[in-house]
Amino acid sequence: MDSVTDWEWFIKKFEVMSNINLTAYKRPQMERRINSFMRTVNIANYQDFIKILGSDKEIYRRFLEHITINVSEFFRNLNHWDVMEKQIIPPLLKERGSLKIWSAGCSTGEEPYSLAMLFQERKINLSDKILATDIDKDVLEKAGIGLYTAKAMNGVPGEWQSKYFNKQGNYYQINDEMKKMIKFQQHDLLRDSFPKEYDLILCRNVVIYFTEETKAKLYKRFSDSLRTRGVLFIGSTEQIFQARDVGLKSIATFFYQKD
Ligand SMILES: C[S@@+](CC[C@H](N)C(=O)[O-])C[C@H]1O[C@@H](n2cnc3c(N)ncnc32)[C@H](O)[C@@H]1O
Repeated sequence: MDSVTDWEWFIKKFEVMSNINLTAYKRPQMERRINSFMRTVNIANYQDFIKILGSDKEIYRRFLEHITINVSEFFRNLNHWDVMEKQIIPPLLKERGSLKIWSAGCSTGEEPYSLAMLFQERKINLSDKILATDIDKDVLEKAGIGLYTAKAMNGVPGEWQSKYFNKQGNYYQINDEMKKMIKFQQHDLLRDSFPKEYDLILCRNVVIYFTEETKAKLYKRFSDSLRTRGVLFIGSTEQIFQARDVGLKSIATFFYQKD
C-alpha cells in the first residue's frame, strides 16, 4: 500500500473499532500525532498498529488519550471569563431568569466546575444541571472524581479553593455541592445528536484539530442548539469566519449570539 491508501485503510479500521471519525480532523496534525505515538510503542506500520490496538487495552486507552488532547485549566483565559460574567450573562439572565448551559468538550472537568463555582458565588440560577460532555470516557471519569493537583489549582481564586474543594494530601477534590450542579455525559460532537434550547454553550479548544469543513458544520449545529439570543463561547485561538451563514453574530471577541 502507498501512504495515502495506507492512511485511509487505517482510519477506516480505526473507525470500526472506536467509532471515532478521524477524517474530520486536520490530517497533517493527526498523522503526526499518530505516528509519534506509534514510535513510542515501537510499531512501524498501520497494519501492526491496528492489531495491537485491538489486542492491548492499555495501549488502546493511551492512544485515545494521546489523540484527543485533554489539557484544560480552571478559568482558562481569565479575561474572557470576566467578559462572560460582566457582559454576556447579565442580559441573558434578565431575559430568562435562569440559564441552561452546556460545556462541550469538557475534558477533566475544569471548565464546568469553573462555571459551577462562578454561578454559586454570584447566585446565578441554573434552569437545569450544567451539561458537560466529552468524547473520551476516561476524562469524564476523572471529571466525575474531581481530584486536582496543587498546580492545577493555580487558576482558582484562593478563597474559592477552601470553599469549594477538600484537601486530600497533595490533591484537592471538588466538593459534592459543585458535583451535583453538573451532569457529565459521553458525547461525540461529530456523530451524536445535539441537545436543544441552550442559553450558553462553551466549546473551547476542541475544534482546533478539525478541518474547516467540519468546523463550519459544527458551528451550524451549535447555532441550532441555542435558543434565540443564546450565546456560544469559543476558545482564545478560534474565530467563526462565516458566523452570519450559520445564524450567529459576534457580540464580543470569542462570543457569538444566535440571531
Ligand atoms: C483541549 S481539551 C479542551 C477542554 C476545555 N474545553 C478547555 O478549553 O480547557 C479538548 C477536549 O475535546 C475533546 N474532543 C475531541 N474530539 C471530540 C469530539 N469529536 N467530540 C467531543 N469531544 C471531543 C477531547 O477529548 C478533549 O477532552
